[in-house]
Amino acid sequence: MDPARRRSYLKALGIEHYVRRDAPSAAPAERVVATAATAVAAEAAVPRPIEPMPPRAKIPATQPLPVAPAAPPVITAATPVDVPRDWVGLRDRVRDCQHCKLCATRTQTVFGVGVEDAPLLVVGEGPGADEDAQGEPFVGRAGKLLDQMLLSIGRSRSKNTYIANVVKCRPPGNRDPEADEVEACRPYLDRQIELIKPKLIVGLGRTAAQRLLHTDEPLSKLRGPLFEYGPTRTPVFITYHPAYLLRSPREKAKSWQDLKRIHQLLQQHDAG
Ligand code: URA
Repeated sequence: MDPARRRSYLKALGIEHYVRRDAPSAAPAERVVATAATAVAAEAAVPRPIEPMPPRAKIPATQPLPVAPAAPPVITAATPVDVPRDWVGLRDRVRDCQHCKLCATRTQTVFGVGVEDAPLLVVGEGPGADEDAQGEPFVGRAGKLLDQMLLSIGRSRSKNTYIANVVKCRPPGNRDPEADEVEACRPYLDRQIELIKPKLIVGLGRTAAQRLLHTDEPLSKLRGPLFEYGPTRTPVFITYHPAYLLRSPREKAKSWQDLKRIHQLLQQHDAG
């Protein structure tokens, strides 16, 4: 990964000291603590095995997720029966949607943004006030952080990434979307996934994770393993929502590990 990008991302996250988990210790009781800059040099010097993509097995969608999935499950996407199969039709349908109560309080729908055949699809929860006003996902503070995170691994909404949300309308007061709202929007996100055909789906936070994986398991159990989505068995990786990272700086280092993993998964795809 480009060292300058890494430094800029670490800086954006407020990480001043970077401790490599797998760094060799200089003396038995000594911890290796490096700044981001020295960590880059150290990382370049220590060859690391590339972690192979774990095998994935197929299980029915109705089966509950295992607590520690040895072989991550396949999640079957709902069939979006009556939803247009093209971008223009889909966009129009979402714009006019009145399938749940969120239509009464929205300023406008927030469809999604990015490259329509991107290898990477990022799925957030739902629009906030800024997104509701501008009609584009992730344009507020969390969006700025998301853009920096993506940039650190060579991704952006203008070049090679699509960004969408579980629900297309802002839940009032920025509350979590409710189950009926998530269900009403399900066919739209399913169709977006079908049209984009991403090589990797990254779910941000609990709502996106539970929606993508059809489960009520907490985020702590869903972040980490690689899952699969739908009949195409598209790999799904779950990480923290950037809004959560802004509130919980302690998790920033783990988010950095996740970004490296996402980068690696996309590179494996590019190479293979
Ligand atoms: N949070 C989200 O989950 N989505 C957005 O579009 C903005 C903030």
